[in-house]
Amino acid sequence: MTAAYPHTRLRRTRASAWSRTMHRETVLAPANLIWPLFVTEGAGVEEPVGSLPGVSRWSVDLIVKRAKEAVSLGIPCLALFPNTPRDLRSDNGLEAMNPDNLMCRATRAIKDACGEDIGVLTDVALDPYTSHGQDGLIDGGGYVLNDDTVEVLIGQSLNQANAGADVIAPSDMMDGRIGLIRQALEAEGHHNVQIMSYAAKYASAFYGPFRDAVGSRGLLKGDKKTYQMDPANTEEALREVAMDLSEGADSVMVKPGLPYLDIVRRVKERFEVPVFAYQVSGEYAMIEAAAAAGAGDRDALVLETLLAFRRAGCSGVLTYHAAHAARLLNG
Ligand code: PBG
Repeated sequence: MTAAYPHTRLRRTRASAWSRTMHRETVLAPANLIWPLFVTEGAGVEEPVGSLPGVSRWSVDLIVKRAKEAVSLGIPCLALFPNTPRDLRSDNGLEAMNPDNLMCRATRAIKDACGEDIGVLTDVALDPYTSHGQDGLIDGGGYVLNDDTVEVLIGQSLNQANAGADVIAPSDMMDGRIGLIRQALEAEGHHNVQIMSYAAKYASAFYGPFRDAVGSRGLLKGDKKTYQMDPANTEEALREVAMDLSEGADSVMVKPGLPYLDIVRRVKERFEVPVFAYQVSGEYAMIEAAAAAGAGDRDALVLETLLAFRRAGCSGVLTYHAAHAARLLNG
C-alpha cells in the first residue's frame, strides 16, 4: 500500500467471521418474508405446479398445515391465491364475491387455526375468476374497464375482509381503487384491515408460472399492458405510489422484484413508507433452473437474492422460497 493513506485497509474488517458479522449493515430474517400459497379444491390434495418446481397448490386442509409451518418458522404473513375451478370462472368473475369461495374458506380456516399468530394477505384482482384471464371486466374489444372493475373489486375486498383477511392487496392496477376500497372497509367497520397496494406493478414476462398455478395462462387473451406499467418507466412508478398513499394505502409493493430494485430504492427514499417487493414466479423459476443447471449453489442464491431486497430498502419480500429461506435462516 502506498499513496496518502497507507494504513487504510478495507479488508481489515472482513478478515474474520465475527468481524464480518459485526459490520453487517443489512439483516435478513424470517420476519421479512411473506409466503405466497396457491389454494385448490378438495381435501388432502397436493398438486405440484410444473413450471414452479417445489411449489404446489394445496387444498384448504393442507393450507392450514402450511400456515402452522409458517408460524413455527417465524414467517409473519401468508399471501393466498386460488386456482378457481374452470366451471366457476365467468366473464365478470362473480365467484370473487362468493363468501364461500376458495379464498374465503382458506382464510377462515387459517384464522381459526392460527389466530393472530399469522397474517393473511389476500390478492384483489379478478384474473383467477374470469374466463378471459384479465384482471377486470372487459368491453367488447377486450379492453379492461377501469371504473366498472373497481366496483367489483370493492365487493371482492369486502368479501375477503369479512372472511377474516388481515391485509387486502389489490394487484389489479386500476386507477382510484385504493381510496374507494378504504372507504368501503371503513364503512363496514374494518378499520384495522390493512391495504398493501401493488402500487408499481409492471407488465412483466416474469409472471408465466404464476398464471399456470392459478390456471389463467391458457385463458388469457392478449396481454395486460393497458393497465400494468411499462418496464421502461420509473417516474410513473413514483406517481403510482404517491396516488395510492394519498388514497390510504398502508404499505406499497413493487413487482417484479430483483429486476426492479432501482424502483424499490427510489420509492423508499422518496416516501419513507413500508415498501415490499414481490419476487415473482419467473424469478423463482430462474433461480431453481440456475441451481439445477449447476450454475450456482441453490441455498446461497436464495439467501443472496433475498438479502438484496433488504439492502434496497424493502421491509419484506413475497417469495416462493419463504419456507426454505426461513429454515436456512433458523439454522
Ligand atoms: C394477478 C397477479 C399476478 C401475480 C400476482 N397477482 C399475475 C398477473 O398480473 O398476471 C404474479 C405473481 C407471480 O408471478 O409470482 N393480478
